[in-house]
Amino acid sequence: MNYILSPSILAADFGKLAEEIRAVEEAGASWLHLDVMDGAFVPSISFGMPLIQSLRQQSGLFFDTHLMIRDPERYLGDFARAGADLITVHGEACGHLDRTVTAIKELGLKAGVALNPATPLNLLDWILPKLDMVLLMSVNPGFGGQRFLDYSLEKISRLRRTITERGLLVGIQVDGGIGLQNLDQVLAAGANIIVAGSAVFGGETGKNAAAFMQHLQAFSAKKA
Ligand code: DX5
Ligand code: ZN
Repeated sequence: MNYILSPSILAADFGKLAEEIRAVEEAGASWLHLDVMDGAFVPSISFGMPLIQSLRQQSGLFFDTHLMIRDPERYLGDFARAGADLITVHGEACGHLDRTVTAIKELGLKAGVALNPATPLNLLDWILPKLDMVLLMSVNPGFGGQRFLDYSLEKISRLRRTITERGLLVGIQVDGGIGLQNLDQVLAAGANIIVAGSAVFGGETGKNAAAFMQHLQAFSAKKA
């Protein structure tokens, strides 16, 4: 399995974003997690297409775009043009989830579906084979720096079991409250794509990202 770190810029210093992103890239990260919030699906507002488009000029990282917006199908083309590589929509935010996932694929992008902590996994039963990734929220979306909800661990392992039993190749991304102190638990439960905001961008970004990368490599070596 491929273990990936996707640093979330939500916790970065927006005044020196390009520098912060270079630091995670130099530490070996290959993904960047972009949290788009609309103030309706989630309480807060973050940023949108123009920022992503500017970052696209600066960075070759894989743009992992997490849309926390209502009816995201309205903006899929815009985010594709801005430079998203993967678009994740919330299952709870789509009236026609299959149509939305199909539209993402038709744009030539990878597609993910995110579930809030309290949303049952069975929302994915029929759509799972069409997905590249499932994002399990381990905090209620809307803010960085929240505490990891422990019941997420069982949710991750149940999803991993389902994916294995069904013979699928779908990544499991976990987002919210992850730091070096609980990273191994999250990986052991079956996640392979780790989002980290404050644990990477709080303090010395390069050093933090390097520590995460080291941890992921060690876990992957242990599993092999
Ligand atoms: C929360 C966002 C997360 C957030 C994670 O709604 O989806 O990606 O940036 O931040 P931390 O790692 O600080 O919990
Ligand atoms: Zn996110």
